[in-house]
Amino acid sequence: MQKDLVSIKDFNTKDIEKLFTLSLDLKKRRAKSEGENFCPLKGKTLAMLFQKSSTRTRVSFETGMFLLGGKALYLNTTDLQVGRGEPVKDTARVLSRYVDGILIRTFLQEEVEDFAEFASIPVINGLTDKLHPCQILSDMFTIQEKKGSLEDLKIAYIGDGNNIAHSWLYAAAEMGLHLWIACPEKYQPDKEIINEAMKAKKGKIVIVHDPKEAADQADILYTDVWASMGQEKEKENRIRDFSGFQLNDLLLQRAKKDVMVMHCLPAHREEEITDSVLEGRHSIIFDQAENRLYVQQAILIMLLGAEL
Ligand code: CP
Ligand code: NVA
Repeated sequence: MQKDLVSIKDFNTKDIEKLFTLSLDLKKRRAKSEGENFCPLKGKTLAMLFQKSSTRTRVSFETGMFLLGGKALYLNTTDLQVGRGEPVKDTARVLSRYVDGILIRTFLQEEVEDFAEFASIPVINGLTDKLHPCQILSDMFTIQEKKGSLEDLKIAYIGDGNNIAHSWLYAAAEMGLHLWIACPEKYQPDKEIINEAMKAKKGKIVIVHDPKEAADQADILYTDVWASMGQEKEKENRIRDFSGFQLNDLLLQRAKKDVMVMHCLPAHREEEITDSVLEGRHSIIFDQAENRLYVQQAILIMLLGAEL
């Protein structure tokens, strides 16, 4: 098991299977109100460094630490000395003397990787411009929970070739998923990541530019915002460029009858997804959001806790 989770590549198939088993156990404990006596992170602290906004990641990690008997410290990076130029390598080493784990949400993937290199404690990527591993680990858990397995499913990601698409590509490579990605030509995922994922020869990755092709007979339809955090100025251009990529009732009709609609949230209704699809009977979006809690608790136990 690797020390950190900076990318899905840090977890192998066995780690991911263990993660799902533990996540399900945590979910059952919570449903039966048996969680109170389960405190594997008693006395542990997690520093949560955020340079971007967050609802789900912040609240689920903070609640997750609390429920496991530990404590989380929310730290806005502009309030820290790192926001005034203190080097990451110094911050990482100092925090390693105080806390048991670091969660970071920032812009550059390299910053998370630098933290991981210099910290002696686990570092978890809470989203960068490039990747969002916690989200996709949790999303695979949701699919497995609802469909029974990840095998033989057509997972169609339609929209921007962003951090979510990149983490899906790494997930597909590791777990052997049948992943279709449909993005406008100008907004393809990073070529190196596509090549790396395709080289894995596990699963089937198909890149297309026509959302209809991706949606045809899909088991999962997944989308994300067209303008991610930090791209707000491009929003108007992107709305124009992504025309035809909206997850709407017409696209939904092309998928299997029992298709499940997913979105990592936050969503922009009537842009990448219509209100009727988001609120419709195929949507599992709020169950998907709930599962972030259990999967991240499991990540915390696996990285910060003693071996179970
Ligand atoms: N999906 C997700 O990471 O949501 P937040 O930005 O609210 O954390
Ligand atoms: N692609 C989105 C995901 C938000 C969870 C962003 O980076 O803003």
